[in-house]
Amino acid sequence: MFSLSVLLLTYAQWTLLYSYTGVISVQSATYGRTSSQICSAGRPRSQISNTWCSKNVPVIFKRCNGLRTCEFKAQGLARPDPCFGTYKYYTTNYICITAETSVTCDRGYGYLKCEHGKIQINTANYGRTDKTTCSQGRPSQQLQNTNCFSPNALDFVCEGKSSCSILASNSVFSDPCFGTFKYLNISYSCVSKCKCYCIEKLYCIVFLCVD
Ligand SMILES: *[C@@H]1O[C@H](CO)[C@@H](O)[C@H](O)[C@H]1NC(C)=O
Repeated sequence: MFSLSVLLLTYAQWTLLYSYTGVISVQSATYGRTSSQICSAGRPRSQISNTWCSKNVPVIFKRCNGLRTCEFKAQGLARPDPCFGTYKYYTTNYICITAETSVTCDRGYGYLKCEHGKIQINTANYGRTDKTTCSQGRPSQQLQNTNCFSPNALDFVCEGKSSCSILASNSVFSDPCFGTFKYLNISYSCVSKCKCYCIEKLYCIVFLCVD
């Protein structure tokens, strides 16, 4: 499955990691050869038979983390040469992260959705932390307590799915502050896993973005 959330372009010695829907978080970046298939077209056997060559390239983390787009010149990032005579390529595993918020008033349904990637819960609270959210038509004594928290196990319901709905109610979460009109406040990310391969010189196009 190819995902449109991330596009990777490499031409000349430039690599562009691109995230349409979030920021890049590099998980691993290596240079070398661990497969005889990748970036092997037109290469003599002697240049692709060594598949035990891999070297970390920490500079790619520094250049790309937290950015929406990331461009770097692949040439010379991994000196000295980890396996002379082998035709090498860069492999970058990265995820694209967005920050989304969902606020649902008491007894309503909250709906979390990721266009691309899977849901990862950052924080979730059923309670009240300000006086204005979900206050319409409510008597003020139901809005006074802004120190109402119920840390909970929402992760099990939504984590790893592409969408989910959840009822904001004290039948689902226990009641953390009786008499207060509460709301469910969820901060979540949509996480896509992506992988990019690129060679050092000339063209290089191979990329995989796996949802
Ligand atoms: C929702 O939770 C986030 C993260 O904890 C917080 O920054 C935000 O102020 C909360 N929003 C409301 C309406 O309580």
